[in-house]
Amino acid sequence: MGKDVIIACDFASAAETFAFLDRFTEEKPFVKIGMELFYAEGPQIVREIKKRGHKIFLDLKLHDIPNTVMKAMAVLSRLDVDMCNLHAGGTIPMMEAALKGLTRPDGTRPLLIAVTQLTSTDQAHMESDLLIDRPMDEVVMHYAENAKTAGLDGVVCSPLEAAKVHERCGKAFLTVTPGVRFADGDVGDQKRIATPERAKEIGSDYIVVGRPITQAADPVAAYRRCVREFVEE
Ligand code: C5P
Repeated sequence: MGKDVIIACDFASAAETFAFLDRFTEEKPFVKIGMELFYAEGPQIVREIKKRGHKIFLDLKLHDIPNTVMKAMAVLSRLDVDMCNLHAGGTIPMMEAALKGLTRPDGTRPLLIAVTQLTSTDQAHMESDLLIDRPMDEVVMHYAENAKTAGLDGVVCSPLEAAKVHERCGKAFLTVTPGVRFADGDVGDQKRIATPERAKEIGSDYIVVGRPITQAADPVAAYRRCVREFVEE
């Protein structure tokens, strides 16, 4: 499994998404489709982007009872996405059911990645709202280990956590890392960030990059710079 750059296509409509993807005439980037676009356009947007030859990370973060998640994952698997995700907070039985649902009759399946604690959840809210009083990094690593136990392929985490996840869960356990910014770029609302080069050094397997590419004056050049820094150099 090679390292790759995944573009977060956080657009509100199919029209905007295709206008963006049309700029890429020489390469077919791996793209992430999130809830906004999927709920606006439905599964057809996935079929159309697949037809154009892109790999797709469908970022819907499932979290429900095991039976429901299993059936929903079977639908996503038939959509032929390449990667999808769920909340590790749904527990090991839910993650195992998800894997079962994703697995096609021929034994193949999309990669399945777990979200541990959302990066928007801080220690204070985890304690007061969820009644979890262990330190955040301990909770995140425990959820990653649960995902591994359930047979998942990896977790979404900050690039700064990638080395620790690999230490605890093994080199082959994938780290998919948002929060990537160019050294000379805008940080925006992201807090725990790394450059593509640094993410590579720490050991991220996939970087998820949104605004540094989608809002760039020249998105294709920005994408190529990510690939150069993260994959090639
Ligand atoms: O524009 P930017 O590069 O910040 O986009 C990062 C993408 O990764 C967004 O789609 C965001 O929702 C997603 N993401 C994140 N942090 C997480 C999980 C997902 O930034 N912990």
